[in-house]
Amino acid sequence: MNVLLIGSGGREHALAWALTASPLLTRLYCAPGNAGIAEVAECVAIGVDDHAGIIAFAKANAIGFVVVGPEQPLVAGLADDLAAAGIKVFGPSRAAAQLEGSKGFTKDLCREFAIPTGTYGRFTDAAAAKTYLATQKLPIVIKADGLAAGKGVVIAEGWDAANAAVDACFEGIFGAAGAEIVIEEFLEGEEVSFFALCDGQHVLPLATAQDHKRVGDGDTGPNTGGMGAYSPAPVMTPEMTRRTMDEIIRPTVAGMRQRGTPFKGVLFLGVMITSDGPKLYEYNARFGDPETQVLMMRLRSDLLAALLATADGVLNTFDVRWSDDAALSVVMAANGYPGDYVKGTEIRGLEAAGAVDGVEIFHAGTVRRDGRLLASGGRVLNVSARGRTVAEAQARAYAAIDLIDWPDGFCRRDIGWRAIARETGAARSKGGG
Ligand code: AMP
Ligand code: GLY
Repeated sequence: MNVLLIGSGGREHALAWALTASPLLTRLYCAPGNAGIAEVAECVAIGVDDHAGIIAFAKANAIGFVVVGPEQPLVAGLADDLAAAGIKVFGPSRAAAQLEGSKGFTKDLCREFAIPTGTYGRFTDAAAAKTYLATQKLPIVIKADGLAAGKGVVIAEGWDAANAAVDACFEGIFGAAGAEIVIEEFLEGEEVSFFALCDGQHVLPLATAQDHKRVGDGDTGPNTGGMGAYSPAPVMTPEMTRRTMDEIIRPTVAGMRQRGTPFKGVLFLGVMITSDGPKLYEYNARFGDPETQVLMMRLRSDLLAALLATADGVLNTFDVRWSDDAALSVVMAANGYPGDYVKGTEIRGLEAAGAVDGVEIFHAGTVRRDGRLLASGGRVLNVSARGRTVAEAQARAYAAIDLIDWPDGFCRRDIGWRAIARETGAARSKGGG
């Protein structure tokens, strides 16, 4: 079967890498792709928002299946348009992608189906929002309702900051995404990224991961799209996984089905493990980035078969296997990210870095020009490694990074610190001291 993958980041490189291992695959294309993806797929210069171009390419190249990576085309209805053209697709409809496209939509769904999440209010004007704010406790979370590339969330520690965040949203700093806001209770706990394939009716949980959203070591500084990730997430015990499935995922899938907008694709939950158990703080309607990079390093089953089973509605007959190894991925970003950064700087040494035992390097924002590899985005490389423990995977990833010659890039040096502290603690108590 010929497959067309939509997207251009590290998530798509990891998906492409896993898809090429499938015996079901004939040719893999990626629109638009990047320099790393070009090593495993044929990249085609079609934008993710060019639905007509994607459909025309799929028809002309006997594409049997389209896999959509990013959220924007899903929220814009690419899956609906492909389905209407008779092309099989992995990814939710526009109506189902509202779980990510509108934070208020998700909060209302949680209320209707008694899914544990923080208390909230939805507002379309600043005065009403501020009146509600005055009845709440600090810290408080202010979110733009729509897609804001991971930037639309403010956690305010004080009233001035909270009121300023409300004003900023309605003054348009997030564009149309901020025309409505959600004010949400701050949830205390440890964050987990949890993934489940859903075919509209059946659910197949995938592995767990944690990412590091802040730009600086020690989880400090501004939020980013994610500076690194690891899997599994040790805080996600079998009991927490069971509760997350029963209390959050199953009611969501049943609720979306009941409303006539079944969710088909991968549901990505941001879950806070609180003292009362798992609480949802956000849904995404797609794979995580950089969580997918570590999931793909641990996946032992055929990804293409799993995604086809999702699209075909037969997940009840399907299962996936994972390596017992841990995996960890470190994001290398261009200096200045997540603020302004320089583009077009040269990266050298990837061959030696990629040869380190257990290491795979996924490209998130690169182009090749005249034989040189250049950075073309904020997050540029995902240096990923497998290991028997998170600590071993971390050591391998940083050994590879130390071989990369890119003075214009940086990375965090502590990805995985929480899991490694847990591993160290467990080893110490096993050793009796
Ligand atoms: P998002 O852009 O929705 O991924 O949110 C960014 C970050 O804000 C998340 O990774 C969480 O760390 C944090 N966050 C979002 N909602 C809440 C909440 N209700 N309580 C605490 N932290 C939150
Ligand atoms: N790593 C978080 C996300 O993909 O939204």
